[in-house]
Amino acid sequence: MSTTAFETQHVARAFDVHPLTPRVGAEVRGIQLRGDLDSTLHHAIYEALLRHKVLFFRKQHLNDAAHEAFARNFGELVPHPTISTAEGSKYILNLDSEYGGRVNYWHTDVTFLPNYFKLSVLRGVTIPIVGGDTIWANTHTAYLDLPAAIQNLAENLWALHSNLPNSNIRFADEIFGFRGERARKYLEEFTSTIYQTEHPVVHVHPETSEKHLLLGGFLQGILGYIPTASAYLYDLLQGYVTRPENTVRWRWQEGDVVIWDNRATQHYAVNDYGTAHRVVRRITVVGDAPTSVSGRKSVLRAKERLTRVET
Ligand SMILES: [Fe+2]
Repeated sequence: MSTTAFETQHVARAFDVHPLTPRVGAEVRGIQLRGDLDSTLHHAIYEALLRHKVLFFRKQHLNDAAHEAFARNFGELVPHPTISTAEGSKYILNLDSEYGGRVNYWHTDVTFLPNYFKLSVLRGVTIPIVGGDTIWANTHTAYLDLPAAIQNLAENLWALHSNLPNSNIRFADEIFGFRGERARKYLEEFTSTIYQTEHPVVHVHPETSEKHLLLGGFLQGILGYIPTASAYLYDLLQGYVTRPENTVRWRWQEGDVVIWDNRATQHYAVNDYGTAHRVVRRITVVGDAPTSVSGRKSVLRAKERLTRVET
């Protein structure tokens, strides 16, 4: 028996991967996540991630330090580009439903940057008794579902992504569907530096070579089209991403950990829990700029720090 075969069998016994839908998402059972995963175990988890795009782990109960240590298995950690990290951490983004944490619009994390996150590791800290699920969509199977003529069209499109409020996000109602000084400050911080990046609408995944639609809430417009045409095209393509058949929905419990391949998915935090409190914490791993089907890389077009005038 070769070493590789033995290791594969060993890992197969170490944990189980249960697909939650045929297209996206799998629950991993029989493992306690930690910082010093041996390379075989790490490889097996990463393979499962590339295949299922989102992995769910129940009952992990990581603290901030253990969360960070686990995320480091996957690469160099990076903080959110504009939002301050949680106290005592250089990397943790605290998403609190009382200020800034109701992210109920479809998006891929921080696509307003050229080298947006490769993957995100999110853990449930305070979860409503009912509601507050998150939904993920597979952007590769969405691409595969497109008619060939639309695939060809999409492969030649480029789009501008930015963290400026736009019609795909509707900041005031959807992210910040609550009032108060902390919410206002969160929005100011989120937009304290404005980024504008051009991405291909179809990118080739650097590890699987699968083609993915690259759209989501930070997309401002499709280049070369007037706004109405851009909006039609966006809706046409995005509709394939968010079809229920293309998604998985997770009912959070406190202590859960979810990892997603941010190059292969979009997600949506369902804001259906009213005044109940929901807190999740996220750590992110640096990525590379995407590549179009023709081999062109995404490019940063603008980065501007805003100066606010007190009134
Ligand atoms: Fe997100």
